[in-house]
Amino acid sequence: MVYNAETLALRNGRKITVRSAEPEDAAAMLQYMKAMLGETPFLLRTPEEFNYTEEEEARILGGRRNDPRSLMLTAEADGQIVACADISSHGAKSRVWHRAELGISVRKDYWRLGIGSALMERLIAFAKQIGYEQIELTVESKNLRALRLYLRNGFSVYGTRPHGMKYPDGSYDSDYLMVKML
Ligand SMILES: CC(C)(COP(=O)(O)OP(=O)(O)OC[C@H]1O[C@@H](n2cnc3c(N)ncnc32)[C@H](O)[C@@H]1OP(=O)(O)O)[C@@H](O)C(=O)NCCC(=O)NCCS
Repeated sequence: MVYNAETLALRNGRKITVRSAEPEDAAAMLQYMKAMLGETPFLLRTPEEFNYTEEEEARILGGRRNDPRSLMLTAEADGQIVACADISSHGAKSRVWHRAELGISVRKDYWRLGIGSALMERLIAFAKQIGYEQIELTVESKNLRALRLYLRNGFSVYGTRPHGMKYPDGSYDSDYLMVKML
């Protein structure tokens, strides 16, 4: 789905542009993902494990843009992508047609400015408009920043997956499974 560009003022007075990601953003998106993945231990991939070529990334972004039940938003500031958030169907099968999945990330220098909340608000509105009945996500149990964002937006924990993540030192962390009923 296409989301037309919208300018928002942040709490520090800076402005960001929120819009849907386009295939032309592929190079900038790859740069964003590699940098962002290097700033948090809480996502599934390491930067090295994000290996799409620009062509592959452009194809993925085009697919998301052309899917009326999917929305991938970017936030741009200072000439670069500083956040990305997306929502898409759990699957094409009729019995899971009512379920959406959500993911969100913001570059560390731009945390605590309201960007995550602004993107979340827009994705929830989109999900309601599409007719999804619930939004689901998984969050690493120590990712308190993300957990707070989700709880504030009406998500609740419905389960805990033990040993959801394993780190290079051999330690594990659990994941929380969360859902928001729409
Ligand atoms: C989790 C994440 C998306 C949050 O994004 P963010 O843009 O920092 O979120 P917000 O700025 O909307 O909210 C963060 C905090 O700033 C506060 N804040 C935001 N705008 C504010 C304002 N105008 N005035 C006062 N406080 C404000 C919020 O209340 C919130 O506080 P809290 O964490 O104590 O509850 C971000 O930290 C991130 O990308 N982390 C790494 C990737 C990740 O973990 N993704 C989730 C995977 S499940």
